[in-house]
Amino acid sequence: MADIGIDLLKAATYLTQGDLVAIPTETVYGLAANAYDEAAVVKIFEAKNRPAFDPLIVHTHSMEEVASIAREVPEVAYQLAERFMPGPLTLILPKSEKVPLLVTSGHDSVGVRIPRHPLTLELLKQLPFPLAAPSANPFGYVSPTTAQHVQDQLGEKLPYIIDGGSCLVGIESTIIRLDGNEVEVLRLGGLALEELEEVVNVSKARIKTSSSNPAAPGMLSSHYSPRKKVLLGAIETNLKKVDASRVGVISLQQAFPGVPEDHQIQLSPAGDVSEAAKSLFAALRALDSLDLDVILAEPMPEQGLGRAINDRLQRASFQQKNGE
Ligand code: TXA
Ligand code: MG
Repeated sequence: MADIGIDLLKAATYLTQGDLVAIPTETVYGLAANAYDEAAVVKIFEAKNRPAFDPLIVHTHSMEEVASIAREVPEVAYQLAERFMPGPLTLILPKSEKVPLLVTSGHDSVGVRIPRHPLTLELLKQLPFPLAAPSANPFGYVSPTTAQHVQDQLGEKLPYIIDGGSCLVGIESTIIRLDGNEVEVLRLGGLALEELEEVVNVSKARIKTSSSNPAAPGMLSSHYSPRKKVLLGAIETNLKKVDASRVGVISLQQAFPGVPEDHQIQLSPAGDVSEAAKSLFAALRALDSLDLDVILAEPMPEQGLGRAINDRLQRASFQQKNGE
């Protein structure tokens, strides 16, 4: 099992010698390695059982560093950074020669982000290299939002997990590609579209949702999935099709009388979608660990982080819908 703690020197030592360390961010926990050390990056793919076609996001602490990871940083990236970085936003930029093709899965572009977590920001400032880090879960499973989630699934595969508490945003970063002054959203995430739109034009036609031919490689239709079957839709309706004593329920606010209380999770009793995003993945994990037949989840309002939650729930339910 991995050690869990807040010893940044220890974390830096492991990373410097080419080992993996799990890092907290405001979105989800990441499984980090020196982005410039290919042998270390290989360990990420192995530990996660991640296909080599799925590129990694590179994490750093400042726009000066972003400018050395990317070959070119357009003006609009600085405007976005001013408002949202550090924060739950990943920019896809042309990569510099320093970034190994292994990190970008052979693409000429690199995903870069500045995470908003004090421990990880401090670690990044101390290190002379940026960190490549995907979410710290086995490929295809729900992302971790606590150090214990990482320990439960990957504890055997890394020496150290930095414990930064529960992630404040709780859902992965919003990924965008810049095209002049327009922005293409490759993955809905922890930065709401409404906020992005205060700074840039978001091309509505180019918001990528579930598809089998993803623009962001690795954004497969079935992803973020618990082992249990997930049915997405009106819970009242779906309850009629199942044995109510054998279901888990994930709703925004509502409770459902026929279902055992400890099988039900209301993501935000106050109806706040940001609060719901924060507890979504822990809720999926909790219900996945119970002896149940199926998890019923209801779509959230299509506003703010509700959109990103719906995207994740759709992907979590996709396999079953398509009988794969
Ligand atoms: O919030 C987050 O983004 C978390 C934390 C740890 O930072 N990271 C994360 O990484 O969610 P991961 O590996 O689970 O998802 C990264 C996704 C890839 O699956 C791919 O869709 C996209 O980022 N991506 C990375 N590099 C890209 C590139 N060069 N072009 C297009 N998409 C890219
Ligand atoms: Mg992931």
